[in-house]
Amino acid sequence: MCGIVAYIGDKKAFPIILKGLKRLEYRGYDSAGIAVNNGTELNLYKKAGKVVELEKFAKDKDTSGNVGIGHTRWATHGKPNDVNAHPHASGNSKFALVHNGIIENYAVLKEELEKRGHIFKSETDTEVLMHLIEDIISKQNCDLFEGTRQALNEVIGAYAIVVISEDNPNEIIAAKKSSPLVIGVGIDEFFIGSDATPIIEYTKNVIYLEDGEIAKLSLTSGLTLKTIQNVEKTPYIQELEMKIETLEKGGYDHFMLKEIFEQPRSIQDCMRGRLMLHQNYISLGGIEAYQDKIFAAKRLIIIACGTSWHAGIVGEYLLEELARIPVEVEYASEFRYRNPIIDENDIVIAISQSGETADTLAAIELAKSKGATIIGICNVVNSTIARATDCGAYTHAGPEIGVASTKAFTAQVTVLTLISLLFGKNKGVIEPARFTRLMHELNAIPSKVEEVLKSDAYIKSIAEIYKDAPNALFLGRGINFPVALEGALKLKEISYIHAEGYPAAEMKHGPIALIDEEMPVYVIATQDASYEKVVSNIQEVKARKGKVIAIVTKGDKVVKNIADHVIEIPKTDDMLVPLLATIPFQLLSYHVAVMRACNVDQPRNLAKSVTVE
Ligand code: F6R
Repeated sequence: MCGIVAYIGDKKAFPIILKGLKRLEYRGYDSAGIAVNNGTELNLYKKAGKVVELEKFAKDKDTSGNVGIGHTRWATHGKPNDVNAHPHASGNSKFALVHNGIIENYAVLKEELEKRGHIFKSETDTEVLMHLIEDIISKQNCDLFEGTRQALNEVIGAYAIVVISEDNPNEIIAAKKSSPLVIGVGIDEFFIGSDATPIIEYTKNVIYLEDGEIAKLSLTSGLTLKTIQNVEKTPYIQELEMKIETLEKGGYDHFMLKEIFEQPRSIQDCMRGRLMLHQNYISLGGIEAYQDKIFAAKRLIIIACGTSWHAGIVGEYLLEELARIPVEVEYASEFRYRNPIIDENDIVIAISQSGETADTLAAIELAKSKGATIIGICNVVNSTIARATDCGAYTHAGPEIGVASTKAFTAQVTVLTLISLLFGKNKGVIEPARFTRLMHELNAIPSKVEEVLKSDAYIKSIAEIYKDAPNALFLGRGINFPVALEGALKLKEISYIHAEGYPAAEMKHGPIALIDEEMPVYVIATQDASYEKVVSNIQEVKARKGKVIAIVTKGDKVVKNIADHVIEIPKTDDMLVPLLATIPFQLLSYHVAVMRACNVDQPRNLAKSVTVE
């Protein structure tokens, strides 16, 4: 994780970096720091806590200077305190460095440097890299670019780094491997960010650094780009499509709430130009080009983590039902370490909102090394995972800033629905009438989501009743089982309530023992193929005095008579229920978390992009 921001130009660097760090806080928020060169010396300010703590701390200090680097951290090596916060200075205080990633061989490097007299202040791997660069510069009398380049050749691991020096306020050095880094190119100024969000309000022209590249951004000589093997590269400048409004809260109290309410539009955006209702046709050009290979494969393997993994399980139901393609869904973190049986005939679908998740990326690399074809479903355009795949479909949900994933999930499920329909049709395994009906149903989903969102105040009143219950069960069957998993994850991660998602029928094999009058049980009980069975499961909960909060199809009478509360959602095709049933759970967790005074957008211990194993 961690967010990096840097600036060099004719403006004051500190406020630009500070604002950028606030934008990147979703990546990590346990400490923050900024180093600026005021023309004669480097001033370095670091503070444990959120960026606002750093802002307060630096208020009366000298923050002048037109070049600087900043960092917001999610701790890996070392506790989240002031000392371990970035930037890290060299031993002679002439250089400062920020880093996102992990230097795996830091212990060996540190031992060697200590033998040569280097003294370390922090417990971080980053400080080791800073000293290594300093060591090379002093031994070889080379400049910062060369010293950094050589140091990176000794490093094993992942990094996005930015380095500045006291003696040369006219340049910044940036490099990356496996962690993202974007350079914004302005007129006589450069910006750097872990993603484009800190850059977008200044320039739309950006360069996404590739792995193994190192750049010098100089106010005198412009931009130099090389590989760390010293091969010259030509920078490829592209134009950002992101809009600044998507990065603001837009009147909502939290990004999470804004993102929940954006879903009618984000689902619509995801379908735009793909669901061609009048032509009765689905267009997913990138993926269709690989169709023959996909149809020839024995199975599809979906890899993902967290919420994206839940979307993957919904995808399994969709692909098997609509396209009759066998699917296996794997946690990327498990897949990568179990020597999976996979070869060049296999197709892997990797799902990731951020496009940066280290486990998913490593699983992709493993599958690629065995010759598999990789399809990506990513939200962040140009992200590492998006670029590591052979083909794919963006979810187009727009920036998701709340750490708990909401609109990205429904967009992922939408893409998986489109893929399933496309394959089902092209394979000839879905009846034409069913295909057409599903196309119409899918097209109606945004307005049905709008309708579900109208229950917000009612869902808030349910949250008020159950906000203090220490545990919760979420139950669903079939394609709604992963919705139950997702509901439980949402509640856990933002309100710190212990929650478990279970297939409703499995309850009797264990979790039923947990049920008493204190236990809220959230059940998806919509009128679909397993409706009667789920009604029986609800009866089992009620017989043990559990409290049932059921999501039902509009107009349902049966469940209304037995459940403590029902939340109605509009009728849709069974295969599309997850797109609606997930919304009440998002709202419920949101309200519970707010009532419990939890930090909804930045829950404790979490970060949006998990770029470590
Ligand atoms: C939960 C959540 C996480 C992510 C997971 C994968 O709300 O956001 O569980 O889903 O870390 O992240 P991506 O999708 O970026 O690969």
